[in-house]
Amino acid sequence: MTSERKSIHGQWSSRLAFILAATGSAVGLGNIWKFPYITGENGGGTFVLVYLLCIVLIGVPIMIAEIMLGRRGRQSPINTMKTLADEERRNDHWVWLGWMGMIAGFLILSYYSVIAGWALSYIFRTASGVFVGATADGVNSVFGDLVSDPERLLAWHTIFMVMTMIVVSRGVKNGLETAVRFLMPALFALLLMVVAYAMTTGYFMEGVQFMFTPGEIKREGVLIAMGHAFFTLSLGMGAIMVYGSYLPKGTSIVQATMFIAAADTIVALLAGLAIFPIVFANGLEPGAGPGLIFKTLPIAFGQMEAGTLIGTAFFVLLVFAAWTSAISLIEPVVAWLVENKGMNRLYASVWTGVATWFLGLGTIFSFNIWSDKTWSIPYLFKNYSFFDTLDYLTANVMLPLGGLFIAIFAAWLMRETSSRDELNTYNGLYKLWRILLRYVTPIAVIIVFLKAVSVI
Ligand code: TRP
Repeated sequence: MTSERKSIHGQWSSRLAFILAATGSAVGLGNIWKFPYITGENGGGTFVLVYLLCIVLIGVPIMIAEIMLGRRGRQSPINTMKTLADEERRNDHWVWLGWMGMIAGFLILSYYSVIAGWALSYIFRTASGVFVGATADGVNSVFGDLVSDPERLLAWHTIFMVMTMIVVSRGVKNGLETAVRFLMPALFALLLMVVAYAMTTGYFMEGVQFMFTPGEIKREGVLIAMGHAFFTLSLGMGAIMVYGSYLPKGTSIVQATMFIAAADTIVALLAGLAIFPIVFANGLEPGAGPGLIFKTLPIAFGQMEAGTLIGTAFFVLLVFAAWTSAISLIEPVVAWLVENKGMNRLYASVWTGVATWFLGLGTIFSFNIWSDKTWSIPYLFKNYSFFDTLDYLTANVMLPLGGLFIAIFAAWLMRETSSRDELNTYNGLYKLWRILLRYVTPIAVIIVFLKAVSVI
């Protein structure tokens, strides 16, 4: 029965197409923009270690589970959860998991697009040559000028949203494969070049030490590291589930997951190794916040041989990486509108795009005209901007919660025969996965969360 279920949205053309698309979803601003700045804000070493542990013990088992549920259900996350809950004779409340995921994806995309807009604008800044020979101060003020201007941010955010919705409206399976196959390796190569530059600054070891020498970490830092493991692997909201729903039967989910997680982690670590030496060489603050990469990388491009060219190409590729991630954030919503509301893809994309664009205004304003407006949630955070609030609630609350429920469903409620049949892997590997997902993953998520809110 299950093996005959088909997605009405079609399938990936091959196993490779899926791996590329999922890697495209995972590798994005999270690796290059977010990982370095939150590592900087949370003191380095221990934070990186916790993040790596979370990738292995929480991220990988949940990714396997999420792809598996998607492939078995073959629909948008909401309908997949409904179908699987029926099939496993569980109650219908599991659709809430799909709902929460859709909302999280929509909230994340609203600010993701604004940051991608920064990267878009830096293509042109870098190409114009303004960074040639620029000092840290000069680079800093270019960034300050950008974020303090709501109109410019709005223009770039609009362009990025339009780009995203064009791809989504045509169906995420077209064109994505080629884009990811060539552009990801190119991004990787450019990142290596910046790391090579970082080695010449004389501060490379400081950067390495900052990232890998354990030190102090706050309770909150542990939650942020865990939230980031979800964010960077695109987990906990159904993005990978919906990609899994287009996956042909017979592809090894376990192998695909290993590849995606490894590629994602390597890119993040390289980004850190590129950025922190530049931070220390120029007397900058690792905790400079969301502008960190925009305040550091241009210094490198300004000093490197052919830096204008390399820098421009780098930001072009960063935008591509963000693009291939953004489409996965909104695909669950669009798939659901097509399935349940009878909309065609174009119509569904336009409307979700407009709504996301509108919410993005909040993030834009939080960097300028609303910069003194703050929000607090007892036990979680105090005086956060609109952008920080959205980021915190999605990455550190909604995604881990979604992941926790995915783990509970896949490891406790789904029959062993179902998951065994779907994963179809070595017995030992299957058992290891199931034990991790039954005990280690949920307990780790719960402990980290309760510790962060100081309940335990
Ligand atoms: N993983 C992407 C990044 O690191 C962002 C992303 C895409 C995402 N789809 C997601 C994050 C789903 C959470 C959930 O940039």
